[in-house]
Amino acid sequence: MEHFLSVEDLRVHFKTADGIVKATDGLSYTLDRGQTLGIVGESGSGKSVSSSAIMGLHAGTTAQISGSVWFDGVDLLTLSQAEMRKLRGKEIAMIFQDPLSALHPYYSVGKQIAEAYRVHNSVTKKQARTKVIEMLELVGIPQPDRRFDGYPHEYSGGMRQRAMIAMALINDPSLVIADEPTTALDVTVQAQILDLLQNLQKEFNTAIIMITHDLGVIAEMADDALVMYAGRAVEYGPVSEVLTHPEMPYTWGLLSSVPDVTADTDARMVPIPGNPPSLLNQPPGCAFHPRCVHSSKVPGDLCRTTLPELLEGPRGGGHLTRCHLADPEQIYETQVIPEIAPMQAEER
Ligand SMILES: Nc1ncnc2c1ncn2[C@@H]1O[C@H](COP(=O)(O)OP(=O)(O)O)[C@@H](O)[C@H]1O
Ligand SMILES: [Mg+2]
Repeated sequence: MEHFLSVEDLRVHFKTADGIVKATDGLSYTLDRGQTLGIVGESGSGKSVSSSAIMGLHAGTTAQISGSVWFDGVDLLTLSQAEMRKLRGKEIAMIFQDPLSALHPYYSVGKQIAEAYRVHNSVTKKQARTKVIEMLELVGIPQPDRRFDGYPHEYSGGMRQRAMIAMALINDPSLVIADEPTTALDVTVQAQILDLLQNLQKEFNTAIIMITHDLGVIAEMADDALVMYAGRAVEYGPVSEVLTHPEMPYTWGLLSSVPDVTADTDARMVPIPGNPPSLLNQPPGCAFHPRCVHSSKVPGDLCRTTLPELLEGPRGGGHLTRCHLADPEQIYETQVIPEIAPMQAEER
């Protein structure tokens, strides 16, 4: 079956004075309309770089990009910058963590959203204003006709993020890439924004790529989860599989570093010891091996010498893992890892 979005062997390498930074190195995934893919990983794992490549945002930089990004039957990586500009903001839209950096301080919020609409639609200013007010109302901004003329600094953080969502969705894009959209917000507002995105997704049948370092967000929002480490997918599959039967020790680490909201203290939160590797001159073998306490269970020097392939595990079901451990499930069972509660649900 042909997927709506199919990323195949995507590589984004940056030439720097110190060498080549392999920020994305052979990433593949698929996504269909109405579905959400959650991409999760520590800071610096290549989440933003890989998604910006889909948007064509590395044009004019030192980035060397290869692979394919099939979007509705077209390989986006073969399009010209002018062709990408036509798609960007119309068919594919992005929501960022920090709306203040995406909104210009000198123009009213409404004017900026209207501009985003007028770029892709031949309408009068008055028609655009009406459409924007409709959209502001849809994303839950009170008194939208009055708020239209407000400036970004007059909006609260949550309201700014709602305005960003209105701007991203005003042209009814079929794909939305949300890059840590709720990271800067407090938990209650975060839950409201995720709810809003889910409702709009249902209404417009949007495909969403949700980038986050928060497994609670993945548990709440995503159909599929893709765990990134050092520019590669290390675990990928249906979210119910990945979160309840994780097979990669890195994912176990992520799961145990989620604060247990049901516990009295956060004593059960165990961050993964060590740091992610430099993406310059990566060592051979599994990129996670220097931090992995289980590599001694693998015969020979395999974890240090050979990059594991991303393969379907014994449970099947399209659950892929990049790990040399023969039966990770069995080892995982002996780990003490708190169950992941979708924390947004707790807040409602
Ligand atoms: N223009 C660039 N030149 C060199 N390295 C870059 C560039 N942009 C990003 N990187 C590196 O790529 C890696 C992945 O970054 P990013 O995708 O932003 O991570 P995250 O998972 O936190 O979103 C980081 O190590 C970052 O330093
Ligand atoms: Mg990022």
